[in-house]
Amino acid sequence: MSFKEEYQRKVESTEEILRKYLPAREGYQKIITEAMEYSLMAGGKRIRPVLMREFYELFGGEGRLIEPFMAAIEMIHTYSLVHDDLPAMDNDDYRRGRKTTHVVYGEDMGILAGDALLNYAFETACTAFDQEPAKSSVIGHALQILARKAGIYGMIGGQVVDVKESGHSISADILDFIYRLKTGALIESSVMIGAVLAGASEEEISKAESIASKVGMAFQIQDDILDVTSTTEMLGKPVHSDEKNEKTTYVTLKGVDESGREVERLTSEALEELKELGHENRFLNELLEWLVYREK
Ligand code: IPE
Ligand code: IPE
Ligand code: MG
Ligand code: MG
Ligand code: MG
Repeated sequence: MSFKEEYQRKVESTEEILRKYLPAREGYQKIITEAMEYSLMAGGKRIRPVLMREFYELFGGEGRLIEPFMAAIEMIHTYSLVHDDLPAMDNDDYRRGRKTTHVVYGEDMGILAGDALLNYAFETACTAFDQEPAKSSVIGHALQILARKAGIYGMIGGQVVDVKESGHSISADILDFIYRLKTGALIESSVMIGAVLAGASEEEISKAESIASKVGMAFQIQDDILDVTSTTEMLGKPVHSDEKNEKTTYVTLKGVDESGREVERLTSEALEELKELGHENRFLNELLEWLVYREK
């Protein structure tokens, strides 16, 4: 099976899991469950849950304990996109090949759908306690990581500085801070949770975090590159959003070519660290390489 086919299978399996955990479309509040489903099932790359399961299996994890956390991370990531696209933030009208949630459901429901996805992510992750009560301690640890990496010391913190600094030129240090948090943190949490639930040691968990931090940085730089080099049809989201919002990005600081070299450098470092972990996983190697050259 080619890498592309294997990845596609893993995406489909992730989407089955997401569907299983979707809240029912019922009750007076059913508009919110519709909006949650609209944004969540639009079809993103699903790299966070896919990476989560790869690291779970890498450290010997088996069974379905990982599934509620796979769903939870994709819900949190999706909420971050729904809010990122709001008029008060990046003000973008397309996402994952469709109109953004606030365009379809209104700004009020866009805000609430984001809030709902965030909260429901934790409700979903907590079902792991019922699934395997004997593993309460690792499940608690995984929840701690999820909460912190999504919050003010993680994704939200990065978004705050990103938004606050729009329209200003900023130093490479601040830009690094923004990328490590707004994008790196959720990718770090994905692999760390995989490792924790599989019973990995503290040292292994921190090595996984270090790999993901490089992958996250490379991923955001590639996102910036695509914002200037790709098309809306290919990305499923508007190009030139960064220019419109007067963002300082890797591309504005260093240009497309040097940014591309940085993505390659970070990825080869991540691959080297992955090798040092001493667990063979051909798919994971190919996935990290694919992320460098991805077109969407
Ligand atoms: C977009 O994330 C936002 C960034 C952190 C760059 P993705 O590129 O993973 O978006 P989807 O999930 O595939 O839509
Ligand atoms: C957003 O970065 C990262 C998030 C935490 C949502 P961007 O604003 O560059 O993401 P896109 O390009 O809109 O997907
Ligand atoms: Mg943004
Ligand atoms: Mg954006
Ligand atoms: Mg972007």
